[in-house]
Amino acid sequence: MSKLFTPFKIGDIEIKNRIVMPPMCMYKVKGDNGLPRCFHKLHYAARSLGGVGLIIVEATAVEPRGRITHSDLGLWSDEQIEEHANLVKDCAKYGAKIAIQLAHAGRKSTCDSQSIAPSAIKFSDDYKIPKEMSMDDIKDLKQNFKNAAIRAQKAGYEIIEIHAAHGYLISEFLSPSINNRSDQYGGSFENRTRLLREILTDVKNAVNIPVGVRISADSWLNKDWKLDDSVKLSCELENLGAAYIHVSSGGFFDTKELDNMPKFLPLYQADYAKAIKESVKIPVIAVGMITTASQGEALLMGNVCDAVAYGRELIRNPNFAQLAMSELGREDLVEKPYQRAF
Ligand SMILES: Cc1cc2nc3c(=O)[nH]c(=O)nc-3n(C[C@H](O)[C@H](O)[C@H](O)COP(=O)(O)O)c2cc1C
Repeated sequence: MSKLFTPFKIGDIEIKNRIVMPPMCMYKVKGDNGLPRCFHKLHYAARSLGGVGLIIVEATAVEPRGRITHSDLGLWSDEQIEEHANLVKDCAKYGAKIAIQLAHAGRKSTCDSQSIAPSAIKFSDDYKIPKEMSMDDIKDLKQNFKNAAIRAQKAGYEIIEIHAAHGYLISEFLSPSINNRSDQYGGSFENRTRLLREILTDVKNAVNIPVGVRISADSWLNKDWKLDDSVKLSCELENLGAAYIHVSSGGFFDTKELDNMPKFLPLYQADYAKAIKESVKIPVIAVGMITTASQGEALLMGNVCDAVAYGRELIRNPNFAQLAMSELGREDLVEKPYQRAF
């Protein structure tokens, strides 16, 4: 009996199997309007048809200056709800549950507008110096996350993921090297994690669907954000009602600055997921160079995680989940017309 093809729950949402498509920006928006296009609908619907249990739609900006590029998706305006609703409808038809990752790029935005960050420290020489956020900026940011979450729920998304990973705005607050603030949002662990805790609470209070968090478990810099911090943070997020933790790593710093970069080998982030899974009861999603059915199955059987995200593998092969079904002896789950192919 394959565990990869047993259902699991995020909050009260039942997901038919444990294969997750993690958020992956496609940079395919046209005309700076943040709207999903035909490409997005086909791209996500194909993975739903391909048998994925949970699709997390790519980083979607909560305000225009929170985009990584002008081609990112957005949910900063009510006018964007309808196209997102169409995307969800097309995808959900084929059985996947559809989540959305709400994001702000912070100092890693490459858009024309002035970028914002906890402190006026640029990511690298290729990036602008961001504006240090004022208290009003922080208040607006929280409101923007809340408004985008309400729009996401209206569009029909069944789960929300808050992007607190990869050196984008929320994770910039977590890092003592990026966040030099001397107010209640900087300094101690409690202060640096305050923004994320407040955004999670605000978003949760604004919607009645599960809200999970994606974190970078380690900054790959020895004196910065480390796995111990992530374990502690994950426990606090669980206490605040986070529905799951999605465990990635890195992205905080330019590679030139790093002193503890992992080797990008298969399963390279799995130990981070395991440490967090040992400390929380909510579901944990592992990700990072997991490319085969047997790897995913081994992670689940080893209690490393509750669900397995296949990123680039699902870009390469939208039918990866069906291949995994056949490899793990569950041909019965393969879409009927496709069964002759396996
Ligand atoms: C094209 C591309 C776009 C990505 N965009 C996002 C994103 O929008 N949000 C995010 O949290 N991670 C993003 N990631 C990271 C992936 O979600 C995933 O964590 C990473 O690719 C490692 O998993 P993999 O080895 O299975 O691909 C992106 C990765 C790729 C390759």
